[in-house]
Amino acid sequence: MTLIKKFRIKSFKEEKPIIEIKNLTITYGNRQIVEQLNLSIQNSEICGLLGPNGAGKSSIYHCIIGLVKPTYGEIFINGIDVTNIPTHLRCTKFGISWVPQYGGSWSDLTTFENLMAIAELHINNKEERLLKINSLIRKFELENVIKLKSKYLSGGQARKLTLAMAMVKNTKILILDEPFAALDPQSVRMIQQIIVSLQMFERISVSISDHSSRDLLSCVDSAMVLSDGKIVAKGTPQQLVKNTRAIEKYFGEGFKI
Ligand SMILES: Nc1ncnc2c1ncn2[C@@H]1O[C@H](COP(=O)(O)OP(=O)(O)O)[C@@H](O)[C@H]1O
Ligand SMILES: [Mg+2]
Repeated sequence: MTLIKKFRIKSFKEEKPIIEIKNLTITYGNRQIVEQLNLSIQNSEICGLLGPNGAGKSSIYHCIIGLVKPTYGEIFINGIDVTNIPTHLRCTKFGISWVPQYGGSWSDLTTFENLMAIAELHINNKEERLLKINSLIRKFELENVIKLKSKYLSGGQARKLTLAMAMVKNTKILILDEPFAALDPQSVRMIQQIIVSLQMFERISVSISDHSSRDLLSCVDSAMVLSDGKIVAKGTPQQLVKNTRAIEKYFGEGFKI
């Protein structure tokens, strides 16, 4: 496996969670998905959330951004309880951006129009808006597809567009739900490099989920394993693959990175 992340942050000297989840319980009807879950993501960390399909990863993200109301528990961003704060305020006041597992752009709008639609919400000045869009188009190498409707973009291009849309405003925390799903290996590498560069150059904290571990473990500082509604193991990728509970509940015997 190629390591994307050459300098992993192994421990954060000053433990300063940017996101902290306390005793989170999520139930749909009478089905309990997540039970009394505690987790934290440190400032400027890339943190992975691993777990099989249906484990509850997207549900946890929906609670963090405010699309699902927890049955029980609290969510803190930068030490402030946001559990009852609506999504748009979590986004504008706390700098949280979410790239969903599916979709995330308007299929009948072009790359440029999608970026403009978000920019019009967040940037008042017309010139600043254009400057921002053009810099994102360059940064995410979308120059060749600016006039293409998003429904015609390749998987990798579409993922780059949704990432660029998440970066239109002043983002401090990026929540990426399965960003590598259904991508070819080259596109996976390109997305991994973008994620690592956002942390390195813009000090953005990132949480990434995935149901398969290799692509995720090569670009995170730390990760945790979700199983049976609980976090069963956490640590650096090297620690995690040796963790007996993570092996038992998720990786299986003989898994190596
Ligand atoms: N809005 C919902 N209503 C009812 N059940 C849901 C809803 N969202 C997710 N689920 C169920 O909750 C479980 C966890 O789903 P999800 O959070 O999407 O898991 P993951 O992202 O780990 O695959 C699944 O069994 C799913 O069918
Ligand atoms: Mg999911």
